[in-house]
Amino acid sequence: MQGLRDLLQQTQQRGVAIGHFNISDLVLLKAVVAAARELDVPVIVGASQGERDFMGVHEIAALVKSLREESGVSIFLNADHTHSLAKAEEAAKAGFDAVVFDLSALPIEENVRQTKEAVVALKAIHPSILIEGEIGDIGTGSEIHETTIDVSKGLTTPEEAKQFVAATGIDILAPAVGNMHGMSASMVRGEARKHLDIERIAEIKKATRVPLTLHGGSGTEGDDFRKAIAAGINIVHINTELRVAWRESLEASLAKQPGEVVPYKILPPVIEAVKEVVLSRLRLFNGEGLAAQRVELESAAK
Ligand code: G3H
Ligand code: ZN
Repeated sequence: MQGLRDLLQQTQQRGVAIGHFNISDLVLLKAVVAAARELDVPVIVGASQGERDFMGVHEIAALVKSLREESGVSIFLNADHTHSLAKAEEAAKAGFDAVVFDLSALPIEENVRQTKEAVVALKAIHPSILIEGEIGDIGTGSEIHETTIDVSKGLTTPEEAKQFVAATGIDILAPAVGNMHGMSASMVRGEARKHLDIERIAEIKKATRVPLTLHGGSGTEGDDFRKAIAAGINIVHINTELRVAWRESLEASLAKQPGEVVPYKILPPVIEAVKEVVLSRLRLFNGEGLAAQRVELESAAK
């Protein structure tokens, strides 16, 4: 299987992005792999600290390894939102392909100091592992938020991004560009959408020249995704949309089969529902409508 670093370069040249989907059980993992297999595209499976604590770091690594071998799909494994070096080292030792070392809640000087140390320590364990650093405020929690999501505070500036990348030696940067973790109830109902600061993405890309990840992808306007990818986003994270589909389809399946207790009869519709969400996002990230977007951007630039 081609390495993640090479894949990032190749997808950048093709003007597409890699979909990253969080999992916290086998149903979600099966859905993500089935969608990537159907479209024959690579995919990143993400597990945050909480998701890893629930499933087990080594268990996730073993499941992904076996699905990778059995399905033939290029599946990469990312230790998402990791807040301590000990947890990052645990994932590196378990064979994860990438780590999001997220100290964005700390003052920037402390974030720089500890992220720089983590890059050295993690590459000593696993030389080809990719380290993603994070600056700015993109909130916490891939869940349904009660209040409206305010994205105006804590946006990343191109200068700050450039300094952070140079000072830490990270491979990938996660900036705050209008994105925010989770969805509001109106987003779940489809009445509201997240909008991204496309110009800021293009400026950050120009200033850093490293792969960029867009976190908090759930509920984002489709066209904003296309523009963000054309402006330099290389990886897009989706979690809440999968969790919403998981819960809604589980409730529907249980309601449809009252009295049923057999998991393998209750859960297949849940896999299908989550797979549909992953399919629609993967289609978009891998080119659906992107060519038209590039033509539009080029003619706007003339
Ligand atoms: O790291 C995970 C993601 O950034 C997911 O964000 O729940 O808004 O899709 P989301
Ligand atoms: Zn995230």
